[in-house]
This record gives sequence, structure tokens and C-alpha cells, in this order.
Amino acid sequence: MKIAVIGTGYVGLVSGTCFAEWGNTVVCVDKNAEKIAQLKQGKLPIYEPGLEKLVLRNHATGRLVFTTSITEAMAGADVVFIAVGTPPRPGHGDADLSFVYGAAKEIAQAMENHAVVVVKSTVPVGTGDAVEKIIATIRPKGSFSVASNPEFLREGSAIDDFLFPDRVVIGIEDDVAREKMAVLYGPLADAKTPIVITQRRAAELIKYASNAFLATKITFINELADLCEQVGTDVGELALGIGLDHRIGRAFLKAGPGYGGSCFPKDTLALLRTAQDYGVALRVVEETVAANEARKRRMALKVLDAVGGDVDGLTIAVLGLTFKPDTDDMREAPSLALIETLQRFGANIQAHDPVGMENAARILENVAMFDDPYECVRNADAVVVVTEWESIRQLDLYRLKQAMRSAIMIDLRNAFGRGAAQAAGFHVTSIGQPV
Ligand code: UGA
Repeated sequence: MKIAVIGTGYVGLVSGTCFAEWGNTVVCVDKNAEKIAQLKQGKLPIYEPGLEKLVLRNHATGRLVFTTSITEAMAGADVVFIAVGTPPRPGHGDADLSFVYGAAKEIAQAMENHAVVVVKSTVPVGTGDAVEKIIATIRPKGSFSVASNPEFLREGSAIDDFLFPDRVVIGIEDDVAREKMAVLYGPLADAKTPIVITQRRAAELIKYASNAFLATKITFINELADLCEQVGTDVGELALGIGLDHRIGRAFLKAGPGYGGSCFPKDTLALLRTAQDYGVALRVVEETVAANEARKRRMALKVLDAVGGDVDGLTIAVLGLTFKPDTDDMREAPSLALIETLQRFGANIQAHDPVGMENAARILENVAMFDDPYECVRNADAVVVVTEWESIRQLDLYRLKQAMRSAIMIDLRNAFGRGAAQAAGFHVTSIGQPV
């Protein structure tokens, strides 16, 4: 099949590359000429394990092409994906759909034959209807379908998540779209991956409900972690004990400093906004959002407690800055709230992240960044582990301790075993373990 993908962000680039990997001809479009020029040279705008290899391989065979022109991409395309960003509107919480609607207009103008327009961006219920209206207004006699095909990939494991998903969700309103999407996802149907074919509005809502459920699950275990600390038990064992019940499941029960990233915080807020518009109260999701925000800020108090109540004038080393490992993404990272709060209390911050320091330096002020984690902790009064990168987990605890002025560790991801850190001489504050 010939496919056009509009938007070369995380979702667009990974989906386009993987569709090419399945043997389709894919043209990826982006308005950002510099990004396209870089991609043509095999340089990726994001850090994602395994993606570069796939982009280079498919680009070399000519199955994966990059352009700034929607018209060029649309020529002869069977399916056109809209995979542009839907960032939160500042001060509103709802998703900014201007990029989606802009793409719909350009598609309408460039359309030749029948096209199946598929919205892959995360969009509120009813956006497919609006996209259909936009195209129909510009091309009243045009022949087209509008489908919804939300994406569930995670940053850091995006390729595997795309090529081997738990399920594919497709929202369609007509048979042409159904047939084309069935051909496109044929490789997964052959692999017995469940394909949920549903209404367009249902598909749109499934995406938000999935993210809100996962965010709630994390928040649940985080709150239970607080209780474990007070009653003197271990949240890891609690998570195992409940997670082995297959109705609950073990995934997403890792307690930490609160969820971050470009999806959960944005999508939970957007879902709440939709519910509000329809006069429905989603109290569980409301509480999840509030509890997670409060938690991220409260992590600074854990540091304060660990150092005896006052960080003014102290040097605090932060290991790990990105919202999770294997990404350079700093959006809504728990490290941001932590560092800003500690700075307000007068702490000097030294930080290390294997990949995210460049992005972090654009957001954070007055933070000394270190490529070498051992240099980062030099003469620090405490070290805080915020992101559980494998390279951080593998650090030599004795060397870390030796470089520091004190022996205080606040491990917000339980990245180092508490026993191992104590054996190296650290006083450890962890998450969800006896205080
Ligand atoms: C999330 C979803 O997991 C994807 O299915 C979805 O496609 C994506 O959002 C999206 O909507 O685009 P992502 O934001 O890449 O993916 O990251 P996750 O792995 O879900 O982690 C999100 C946050 O939750 C991170 O801050 C992570 O540290 C935290 N988390 C996750 C925990 O604190 N504990 C856990 O057990 C799991």
C-alpha cells in the first residue's frame, strides 16, 4: 500500500517507519524543513532505541521517504495518517486541535482519488466528525473516509510496542475504511493480535480511557507506597502480592515520584475537559490528577526530611532527569518539580542524565550538569535518584559514596537495592519501604 503520514513526531515517525518495515511505501511529511532535511540524512529528531536502524534501512530501500509537501505525499496514497501533536492549550487543559484541523484542510486540498484519512493523534471524542466536516466543506464531491486508529506505543519501547502490540483499535464508519485498514494491519492479524474494530468515537475514547486507567493504577500504588512506609512494609512485595491476581495484573505497579511524560498528564486533563463538556464527573480521574501533582512536589520534602529539615546552602546531586529511562523527553518529568522546589529552599543542584541533559538545560536554570555521574555527586550533601536508567542502576555504590560529602541517598525509584546501598554505607530513604 502507499501511505502518507503527516507529522514526524514520536507517533508519526515510529508508525511510518514500522509501516514501511511491513513492506508498504510510506511518505512522511513535516512542515519543519530542517527536520525533514535531517531525516533525509538519517539524523533523527528524537532518541528512541532501535528507531535509527529501521529508519536507515527503510530509507535506503526507498520504502520510507521524507518530504515537506503534503501534495507530494498524497499523490496516489491509499491511506493518509494524521499524526501531528495535540498539546494542551495553556490554561485550558483541553487538547489544542489546530494542527489536526490544519492537516485535514491540507489533505482536502491535495486529495485526488478516494483516500482513507486516519487520525492517529490522540484526540478528544468527536474530532473524527470534525475532520470529516472540514474535508467535506472543502471537497463537497470528494470521495473519502475518516477513521480513528489511536496509538498505544510507549517512548523507550516504541518499536516493539508498535510491531508487537497487545491490540490494535480501529474506529471506522464505512466499509472502504474497514477494508483498507484490514489490509494495512494484515501482518498483525496474521500474528493473531486482537484487532478491535469499533465506532470512530469509541476508538477515540478508548485511547483516553487507557491512559487514564494506567495513570490511576500508578497513582494507586504510589498512595499505597506512602501507607507501606508508615506501617513498616514493602510496596514491592505488596505490588507482587496484588499483581499476581490476573484481574489486577503486575504491570504499572511500580511506585515512584509520580508519573510524567507527554501523555498521561496531558491526556488525563483532556479527558476531564471532555467529561465536563458532557456534564459527567470523572471523580477517580480528577483525584488521580490532583494526587500526582501533589506527589511530584512532595518528593522535595522527602529530601528535606532526609537531610534533617533544611537544604539551604546544601549541594544536592540528582541522578536521572528524564520522565523515565530510554528517552530524552523532559516533559512533565518529576525531576523538574523536585529541582525547582529544592532550589526555592536554597539548595544548589548538580545533575546527571545519560541522554536528557541537553533538553533539561533548556528548561532548568542554575543546574550544574555532569556527563560523569561520579563527578555529579562530588562533595554533595545528598544524592537523589529520580530516573531509573540502567546505567544509573549499574553505578558503583562505593565509588558514589566516596565522592560525596555525606552518605545520604534518597532513592525515589528504588533503583538500587536498599540493602546494597546500606552495605555501601548510605543512609537510604526509599519509596514504600519502612522509614
Ligand atoms: C504512555 C502509555 O503507556 C502508552 O501506552 C501511550 O501510547 C502513551 O502514553 C501515549 O499516549 O502516547 P509513555 O508516556 O511513553 O506511554 O510512558 P509510560 O511508560 O507509560 O510511563 C509514563 C510515566 O509513568 C513515567 O513517568 C513512568 O516513570 C511512570 N510509571 C510507569 C510509574 O511511575 N510506574 C509504573 O509502574 C509505570
